[in-house]
Amino acid sequence: MVVSNRLPVDRYTSDDAENGEEGWRRSPGGLVTALAPMMTKTDGAWVGWHGAPDEALEPFSHGGMDLIPVELSTRDVELYYEGFSNATLWPLYHDVIAPPEFHRTWWDSYRRVNQRFADAVVQHADHGATVWVQDYQLQLVPSMLRRARPDLRIGFFNHIPFPPPEIFAQLPWRQAIIEGLLGADLVGFQRPSDAANFMRSARRFIGASVKQQQVHVKGADGQITHIARAQAFPISIAVDQISELAERPDIIERSRQIRQDLGNPKTILLGVDRLDYTKGIPHRLKAFEELLKEGRLTVEDATLIQVASPSRERVRQYRLLREEIEGTVGHINGSFDTMQNTAVRYLHHSYPVEEMVALYLAADVMLVTALRDGMNLVAKEYVTARTNNTGALVLSEFTGAADQLKQALLMNPHDIDGLKNTIMRAVNLPPNESRRRMKSMRKQILDHDVDHWSAEFLSALAETVVRDDS
Ligand code: G6P
Repeated sequence: MVVSNRLPVDRYTSDDAENGEEGWRRSPGGLVTALAPMMTKTDGAWVGWHGAPDEALEPFSHGGMDLIPVELSTRDVELYYEGFSNATLWPLYHDVIAPPEFHRTWWDSYRRVNQRFADAVVQHADHGATVWVQDYQLQLVPSMLRRARPDLRIGFFNHIPFPPPEIFAQLPWRQAIIEGLLGADLVGFQRPSDAANFMRSARRFIGASVKQQQVHVKGADGQITHIARAQAFPISIAVDQISELAERPDIIERSRQIRQDLGNPKTILLGVDRLDYTKGIPHRLKAFEELLKEGRLTVEDATLIQVASPSRERVRQYRLLREEIEGTVGHINGSFDTMQNTAVRYLHHSYPVEEMVALYLAADVMLVTALRDGMNLVAKEYVTARTNNTGALVLSEFTGAADQLKQALLMNPHDIDGLKNTIMRAVNLPPNESRRRMKSMRKQILDHDVDHWSAEFLSALAETVVRDDS
């Protein structure tokens, strides 16, 4: 059984149906691609919210998967999702880039909603089932499951960073979160440093005795219930899907078209992000603007395409960031555009994967300037799409991906001069060097795709010892 905040399907309304016929389609994204085949094969079920507030749905099947919807009210969305998940935990876990807010009403809602997800699992899981809980929205679910169903084998994977204890310390409910996670047999993280941060917090805030990244967890009666282990499992992408799209003639043609529509500049730079303050979009724009100001780049030679897909738009920090970015883009374009050329082509949309791959093929330089990122799958997708080993990846040191993509042009996005120099290095990268770097990065990713990730996690989880006294 997989448990995540969102079910792996999106609702759609068909355009041609006059009465707006509705249906479900599988959501894009690596996690769904990785787990869907396994779920259909093993008769597994997926527990999650279906995306519409104030609507209770019965379990249903889609694409061979059993889906168990969890209901969220409008107020749950406000307090549990927008509030505690995305205005408390998200900024706290991303190095407090934005100030986290701590509200007791948000925490109460987080606890209640986590309990609702756990109840759905308890109701539907077979005896001895394996349950895999996903991400920071559901950190209390493992211990809730452990208490109700000691027969289950419980895994948890945190897709975002886990902060150092000095930062985690701010959280008024730090102890409950640590205990929630320690309900799992295996707690997976993106990087070894995230796993180490978690174990340091377990030691510091609940006095856990940690040996070799393991804790003997005790129940209310003081007896050891299980051993919880923390380990890194860096997530990846659906390599075959991206590689196949990158070789499809219509997509290659589309990438040419994009280039032509921009007036065939010598260099296309590309940024693709959710519109999120962790992504360092303002830093990237500042560096690009200064390069234009100094004449190291010109709009005739270079265009920056920035795709910023809409995200969490009801959360204040996201609205402020959007205003800031759009102000900056307007300022840069107003100063540097000519009748023929534009400096920044800014797109506040999300696109289907086909269009994304066409953009990757069109881009000579990919800019990933995140200030903190659990992994960053865009970096891995770009490299995978470059099947002819051309192009350059400018990659922030503060991404999980930097641990694996050591041949990227790594930089610190806070250092604007360093970022500018790295962008210029990428623009002028000799073809030999670009080929050498791309080849080595592609090999790393091809050997470690998202199936590899889920298989590694699940086999490590299968090795954990489950005590079943029931
Ligand atoms: C990150 C998180 C995911 C989340 C996604 C999109 O990748 O790790 O859990 O689903 O962002 O954010 P959203 O708030 O739209 O679900």
